[in-house]
Amino acid sequence: MHKVFVSRKLPGPALQQLAERVELQCWPENSPPSPQALQQAVSDCDGLLCTLNDKIDQDLLDAAPKLRVVSSCSVGVDHVDIAALNARGIPLGYTPHVLTEATADLAFALLLCAARRLNEGDRFTRNGGWAAQRGWDPELLLGRDLHGATLGLLGLGPIGQAMARRAQGFGIRVIGWNRSTRQVTGVENHSFEEVIAQSDFLSLHLALCADTRHIINAKTLQQMPDHAILINSARGALIDEQALISALRKQQIAAAALDVFEHEPITPEHPLLALPNAIIAPHLGSATRGTRVAMAQLAVDNLLAGLEGLTMPQCVNPQATNGQQS
Ligand code: DGY
Repeated sequence: MHKVFVSRKLPGPALQQLAERVELQCWPENSPPSPQALQQAVSDCDGLLCTLNDKIDQDLLDAAPKLRVVSSCSVGVDHVDIAALNARGIPLGYTPHVLTEATADLAFALLLCAARRLNEGDRFTRNGGWAAQRGWDPELLLGRDLHGATLGLLGLGPIGQAMARRAQGFGIRVIGWNRSTRQVTGVENHSFEEVIAQSDFLSLHLALCADTRHIINAKTLQQMPDHAILINSARGALIDEQALISALRKQQIAAAALDVFEHEPITPEHPLLALPNAIIAPHLGSATRGTRVAMAQLAVDNLLAGLEGLTMPQCVNPQATNGQQS
């Protein structure tokens, strides 16, 4: 029987199904294993089912000489050294598509929340600000119209496209830029600079890699309109966080609505949390029960296929096994 380590409990029936097919060890805690604990846990394993918390690097592979398959319960795989997996002939499973709609919903929720200043309204009401006014105020917390506004998308993959569909339903003009040119119905293609300069709302949907790290930085923030709202539901390191904090402090852009951060989790002392024009969520993009159950199932299906030498339903690096899978 194959030995498998799963680095987090996952919702739904998938882990139970896995337990019936392999010798399974599952990390029991509600926080992820440390790198050392993970290395120890996989030392005699054939398979690893991990999350985006787990760094899958050369040190981990060196500690796991029998490892044949890695399956990540995530669509993003920036926590994995894919070249190191390729060198060892290890296929990497991931979970695209099943989380597209939920993640776009969250990104659009961030857009709505920032545009209509819902977080400020919530705080104002709880703090007694509204009660102190005795009634309706025609100038209270005026936000931005969505209809007629321009949404810029950086990244036109499935989640960017799903974001575009939502925006179109609200009468928003959608413009976009993708690293490789991609035609998407209802989205006007523009250069990176034009998208930055023309967007009332700018939403990030890029994978994190060396080319996209800090793609939003002091320079790009300066090129955005001063009323712009930045939305990030992809990966924190797409943004130079120090530059963003400074831009928000100076009100160089109007607001940022963020689900992801350079170093997660952020602590209550994080400077972004002191800024009234930052809306913060704790990496909730795919956090619906249905979506997380589907992600767990796909991660398990990928793992089992890989262990059996079959083609994974969703593999990042099919070339790693040089056609050995069937
Ligand atoms: C992913 O899958 O990469 C998301 O960040 C979490 O769903």
